[in-house]
Amino acid sequence: MKIIGIIASPRKEGNTSWVVNKILEGAKEKGAETHSWCFSDLDIEPCRGCLCCHDGSDRGCIINDDMQELYDAMEHADALVLGSPVYMGQMSAQAKIFTDRLFAQISPRFSPHYKEKVTKMKLVLAFTQGNPDSGMFQEYFDYTKKMFQLLEFDVKEVVVVAGMRNKPACERKDLDTAMKHVGSALVL
Ligand SMILES: Cc1cc2nc3c(=O)[nH]c(=O)nc-3n(C[C@H](O)[C@H](O)[C@H](O)COP(=O)(O)O)c2cc1C
Repeated sequence: MKIIGIIASPRKEGNTSWVVNKILEGAKEKGAETHSWCFSDLDIEPCRGCLCCHDGSDRGCIINDDMQELYDAMEHADALVLGSPVYMGQMSAQAKIFTDRLFAQISPRFSPHYKEKVTKMKLVLAFTQGNPDSGMFQEYFDYTKKMFQLLEFDVKEVVVVAGMRNKPACERKDLDTAMKHVGSALVL
């Protein structure tokens, strides 16, 4: 089983990175093949809305940037762990850019034009936030889960790691086992 992680944070050594990599570690211990990318190492443009990806030519997204590597990785992956810090009560700009660029690859059911996929990719959404109240942005997390379900992901879990302003994720002893468990649960 191949599981990939996308860290949509500008901080390579930050909380989101720690959480995503810990989830992948749990999956790896169960025998999965894992790999992660951090947005700080990638050059990914926002979607141009040109719709070339859906013009019937099958050429995919025409923007020739690092998203092409992620499209390829997703093509071969069984599961995706998408991590984002909460910025102003929402996903980061990086996570939004990644999500918008999925338009070229995913068949959203919000249009009758698209066909449903036979096998859905498993998805774990992992948010980290400064505020200690993990329910503070619950409506947004629920909405985002629904949005990814519309994009035909099999959303397995929405992880919210709160309280990062008090202690960084890497110093939170309680998180180690919990995050690894999220990863191991992804492995069949
Ligand atoms: C621009 C910005 C906006 C943020 N907005 C929120 C917020 O709305 N709610 C919150 O609880 N934390 C907020 N935070 C704190 C981050 O979500 C938190 O520190 C997160 O763990 C950072 O992840 P990272 O270490 O991967 O960068 C914000 C941080 C930044 C830099």
